[in-house]
This record gives sequence, C-alpha cells and structure tokens, in this order.
Amino acid sequence: ALITLRQLLDHAAENDYGVPAFNINNMEQGLAIMRAAEKVNAPVILQASRGARGYAGDIMLKHLIQALSEMWPDIPLCMHQDHGNNEATCLSAIKHGFTSVMMDGSLEADMKTPADWDYNVAITERVAQMAHWVGASVEGELGVLGSLETGEAAEEDGSGAVGKLSEDQLLTDPDEAKEFVALTKVDALAIACGTSHGAYKFSSKPTGETLAIKRIEEIHAKIPNVHLVMHGSSSVPQYLQDLINENGGEMPQTYGVPIEEIERGIKSGVRKVNIDTDNRMALTGTFRKMAKEKPGEFDPRKFMIPAMDEMQKLCEDRFERFGTAGNA
Ligand code: G3H
Ligand code: 13P
Ligand code: NA
Ligand code: ZN
Repeated sequence: ALITLRQLLDHAAENDYGVPAFNINNMEQGLAIMRAAEKVNAPVILQASRGARGYAGDIMLKHLIQALSEMWPDIPLCMHQDHGNNEATCLSAIKHGFTSVMMDGSLEADMKTPADWDYNVAITERVAQMAHWVGASVEGELGVLGSLETGEAAEEDGSGAVGKLSEDQLLTDPDEAKEFVALTKVDALAIACGTSHGAYKFSSKPTGETLAIKRIEEIHAKIPNVHLVMHGSSSVPQYLQDLINENGGEMPQTYGVPIEEIERGIKSGVRKVNIDTDNRMALTGTFRKMAKEKPGEFDPRKFMIPAMDEMQKLCEDRFERFGTAGNA
C-alpha cells in the first residue's frame, strides 16, 4: 500500500533501522526493487528525479507507482520526488500520486548555485505548508554536499563542481538545522556529512572514519523527531566497476561510501539513504556483459532479465545491511 515518508520513517525510527531510497526511471528498476523487497520483507522508498519524470513522463510514472503498489499490496511503499527545485515541481509530483516530496532549497532553482538561508527557508516552508495540506511529506536540505577529501562542492547530480569550500561549509550545522526545521516544519532533512552524488566520491580507498559521524549524532540530538537523510550513499562496489570495465567499459577507478559507514550513520540517526549510482552500475554492467557474451542477441529481454537480477541482488543486500529487511 502507498504510505507517506513520515509514516515509513516514523516506523524506522521507532525500530532503529534505515531505509534505502532507490531512484527509478523505468519499469525494470521498479520490478527489481519490489522483488527484492518482497524477498526480504522490506518497506520501500522509490524516488524519481526531475530527470526521471522527463524520461518516463508523469502519467507513466503515476501509473507505474499504481501498478507496483497493486502488484505488491502488502509492501508499504512511499513514492518520493527527489531534489524538487521549486513549488511547481513538488506540487505536480503530488498531483501525480507521489506521497512525499523533497524541496531542495539548498541550491537555487537552477540547482547549480548554492542558495542563501532566507531563500531556502522561505521556499521550503511554502512547499511544506502546501504538501501538508494534502497529506504529503516533505524533505528539505540544509548544507552543501561535497567531498571532505578535496573540499570540492559537487553539483547535486554529480555532474561537476560548483567550487571549493571549507570543511565547515561542507557539514550541516546542528543549531542551524534546529532553526531550519522549526521554521519550515519539514518531516525529513537532508544533511551534508561527507557524501557527494555520483560515482566519483573518493579518489583513494576510504579508511577509518569516512563520514562525519559525530556531526550526524549532534544534528540528531538537536532534531530527534525529524528524520535525517543521507544523499550520495552509493558504495560504488568494486565488483560492479570490474563488471563494467571487464566488458568494454572505461570507468576510472573510484571509491564510494563504505557500507559500514552507512551502518554507523543509521546507528547515529540517519533514516533515509539515497542510492542511484549503484543500481545504474548493476544494470549497465550486466548489459555490457550480455552484449559481449552474446553478440548475436537482439531480444532486449535477454539483457533486461539478468540486469534486473543483478540490481535485485544489490537492493536485497542494502535492505539487509540497513536493517530494513523484516519490517514490511
Ligand atoms: O541526485 C541525483 C540522482 O542520482 C538522480 O539523477 O537527475 O540524473 O536522474 P538524475
Ligand atoms: P548516489 O549518486 O550516491 O547514488 O546518490 C543518489 C542520490 O543522492 C539521489 O538523491
Ligand atoms: Na545541498
Ligand atoms: Zn540526492
């Protein structure tokens, strides 16, 4: 059944688990995630970016959500707008059946320029008020995601850098988080704690404390009833880099967020864990492998079926590691 982000994450908080929020753009990703959830009995957050809405179309996504919830009536399912950039994006998502929206006012509407406090508060407060009128949940964002390693603040979609920032600017401030939540009334808050979007998060293997775990604990202590969200949480596993590169791909060596660090984040109060890149790699790596092994094959299902299996395996693993399994 379709439920809101607030309903799902309240249960997660009461029972000390985290929930992966997987990006979807098409039917195959939806099926792979729901099959994984069914296998391990996990509740689900699906999220669509503005790019996903442009790719599939709002009407298609609306019916995809309906179809998935009808096919899996016993799995709690939240459908969330990822990185909404203005009121129109968020409200039109709700109109098309989304039960939750992210108003990312940490960047201006162009999604490239870091926004100031007043802009972020005003637009997030407006969206939260309207969404709450009609029973949808709202995620806001405070802070600039970016690598603590390089001080490079990345664009939210991982497509490029917006500039150099100090470590202080790359971590959400606990007192500001408290004030931001009091002013905007968001249900969930995305924080900057050392992750960044896309595949290229760390240029050398992260060892020891990769994320600012202490900062997460401090923020959680200030706003215990608001659910913390960690964006940029792909682990960019070596086996998927190898799968891509052994089958004709040319991805430079890179490192993602170690899963143990995400587990520590969840213990410290993180509830929603955003993952897109890992699933993209699972699908693309399998497509490449099939294309190489069976060059005569032209039935797309022969590519899609093993690709969905690979993605399902990854989703099952995250449900297990984050403690989501068993909580549907
Ligand atoms: O945060 C970005 C997500 O990975 C979605 O990416 O805008 O290319 O769909 P996208
Ligand atoms: P990754 O690029 O690490 O998968 O993060 C996705 C994300 O944060 C979507 O909002
Ligand atoms: Na941000
Ligand atoms: Zn994100």
